[in-house]
Amino acid sequence: MSADPLPSRLAVLLEGVLFYGDPHGLWGPLLEALVPSVHTVFILGDLAEAKRHPEHIDDARATLGTLKDRGINWYTISGDRESETSDICDLLFYELKDQLADGRLIKVKESNVTVAGLGGVVRGRIWDGLSKPRIQSPDELLAKTPPQEIYRQGLPFKKRSTIFPSTVHWLSEQKADVLICHEAPSCHPNGFAFIDELASALDAKLIVHGHHHLPYIDRLNNGVWVRGLGLAEVWRPQAPLSDVQRQLLRSGLKSLEENERAYRYLKDR
Ligand SMILES: [Fe+2]
Repeated sequence: MSADPLPSRLAVLLEGVLFYGDPHGLWGPLLEALVPSVHTVFILGDLAEAKRHPEHIDDARATLGTLKDRGINWYTISGDRESETSDICDLLFYELKDQLADGRLIKVKESNVTVAGLGGVVRGRIWDGLSKPRIQSPDELLAKTPPQEIYRQGLPFKKRSTIFPSTVHWLSEQKADVLICHEAPSCHPNGFAFIDELASALDAKLIVHGHHHLPYIDRLNNGVWVRGLGLAEVWRPQAPLSDVQRQLLRSGLKSLEENERAYRYLKDR
């Protein structure tokens, strides 16, 4: 992909943010892309192929430790691969849980951007993403789980990376600039319209997703931009602007934001 047709306004806001497509144990492209201007990394799930390659777990731990040592903020959402073994579950849902963006809002202070995380995949026995859910929430699933399947007092590790209606509902009552998810919205042949609707509810301008390992950019009917990332693909949104244009756009955006804040404060007085 030669150039991103992402609007300059959005690209300028996201400068310094790097999105990384499903690693599946591949960390080289990310490490090579860590130029000094990168302050935040979002990984789109499937860190490892833990069942076939248990050594991927140590690789992931070492790489993510390197990011931390370099002072880079990083977050990930869970993918279906994070439910493969108890070891990868231990890594992501316990050891690294503070970096897990599933069902959370992450404020990127350096860019003044909020990123919402919808981790996991659609599992039909819980909710097929279309019809009435069979189970609403992790708590409901836990209550229905046989005791011998409970893992570390929580959900079975095979069910951890699941999209629950309760998570989608909670996120839909928040506001964010960007939505990151493992599953795709409706512009992908295997995507889901509820992700389009969630982005609208969040007022998000951009969805970045993994899972299908297909690099593309598209725009939904609701105006939200979509960037699908390939396997271990690095994406750093960059506006095709000169330094002067970039500065002008940044200061214009700042003024707009300050004016909007003043308007909201004053409008009902
Ligand atoms: Fe994947």
